[in-house]
Amino acid sequence: MGMAKDLSTHVGIIGAGPAGLLLSHLLHLHGIQSILIEAQTREHCETRVRAGVLEQGTVDLLNEAGAGERMRREGLIHHGIELRFNRRGHRLDLHQLTNGRAITVYAQHEVVKDLVALRFDAGGRIVFQAGQVQFHDIASSSPRITFQHGGEAYEISCDFIAGCDGFHGISRNSIPGGAVRFYEKAYPFAWLGILAEVPPASNELIYSNHERGFALSSMRTPTISRLYLQCDPHEDLAVWSDSRIWEELHRRFETVDSFRLNQGPILQKGITSMRSFVADPMQYSRLFLAGDAAHIVPPTGAKGLNLAAADVYVLARAFDSWYRSGNSALLDRYSETCLRRVWRVQHFSWWMTSMFHRFPEGDEFDHRRQLAELGNIASSRAAATYLAENYTGLPFDLPEELAQTSWPTHSL
Ligand code: FAD
Ligand code: DHB
Repeated sequence: MGMAKDLSTHVGIIGAGPAGLLLSHLLHLHGIQSILIEAQTREHCETRVRAGVLEQGTVDLLNEAGAGERMRREGLIHHGIELRFNRRGHRLDLHQLTNGRAITVYAQHEVVKDLVALRFDAGGRIVFQAGQVQFHDIASSSPRITFQHGGEAYEISCDFIAGCDGFHGISRNSIPGGAVRFYEKAYPFAWLGILAEVPPASNELIYSNHERGFALSSMRTPTISRLYLQCDPHEDLAVWSDSRIWEELHRRFETVDSFRLNQGPILQKGITSMRSFVADPMQYSRLFLAGDAAHIVPPTGAKGLNLAAADVYVLARAFDSWYRSGNSALLDRYSETCLRRVWRVQHFSWWMTSMFHRFPEGDEFDHRRQLAELGNIASSRAAATYLAENYTGLPFDLPEELAQTSWPTHSL
């Protein structure tokens, strides 16, 4: 093999998930260059079935950044959700409880498609199928990234590295031991998720607490349902035939007034493990972690993608401030700023998870306590407001002195 091909840029970004792509786009809008390095193919990134619920703040950010055109046409705006327990449904009017906020159902891989297209239209540089990605001199002011692509070796010199490579990426583990602390909690269950070619049973999401375990009815479009059911963390997908999945879902959504799910062909199924994880700080020298590379939440409440968007909003503003005025104050406070929100969302996701799932070590006392808590939310406006505010999303935080300053995302 010959010499490495040398490239240079302002910010080297690892990972073409929502975090890396949105960061790259926001930086572009502010005249900051980046090169994005992704291990998988473009097709893989654009078809991976993952999250589907966008908070109001994520929708607003995508719109302001000029990335919301298709989302505005195809996304489904939901003003409420249903909590189902004791075989009865209770609608939470998110819109009324939060003075007009809502969530938008729009698949994560559609957000990814839109952002990849925007980057390429603007001449953005994304390298898919990059192998052997490694960092060098991350503690210096000129870190480097090396990787292989199409049989050639490449080296990127940059000012900063943004580690947006998800939970199993290399960025977090490139930080020397002792420089970062990890907080972690594993849950004794997982989710079996399906995509089915059938109109959703209800036009809003249903979160169901059932003594057989949690179940969630969601959707991707008016004709495609997305459903989840709590299962064993070591579950073998092979023991879940399509008919067994439907039978279990029917039971977990049953109501006193004989509600029925619509049943149709299953297009895709998978198992998602559940954990809570936080890396603190989300920075080491010139390497900044964002999204799942820095933290994981259990999926109940749909926060993973939204937290990733909140991180890169803060990071893009911090880089902008550094490149515009040489001011490192925001970069220095990046981790602290993000972690405030991360921990509040960790609490919310843990709380939603605890309230809806059947714990293997739990007993009838625990189940009754969950039902009492859900009853409380269904009957107390204060309790319902707490859930609604967190579900539709907390404001994207900045350090206090900057919270009021405007930052045009689209006008440059
Ligand atoms: P990712 O989307 O994971 O993107 C990271 C990217 O980095 C990937 O494209 C990966 O290929 C790439 N990469 C990894 N290692 C390297 C490397 N060494 N070099 C170069 N590139 C690399 N959240 C919800 O809210 N609801 C859900 O239902 C839900 N379901 C999920 C199901 C699954 C199977 C998973 C894994 C996650 C799910 N999440 C869900 C979480 C949500 O999808 C994530 O929070 C979100 O994807 C975070 O975005 P990200 O950009 O930080 O990371
Ligand atoms: C979806 C996923 C979630 O984790 C959730 O709480 C709501 C919806 C979904 O994939 O549609």
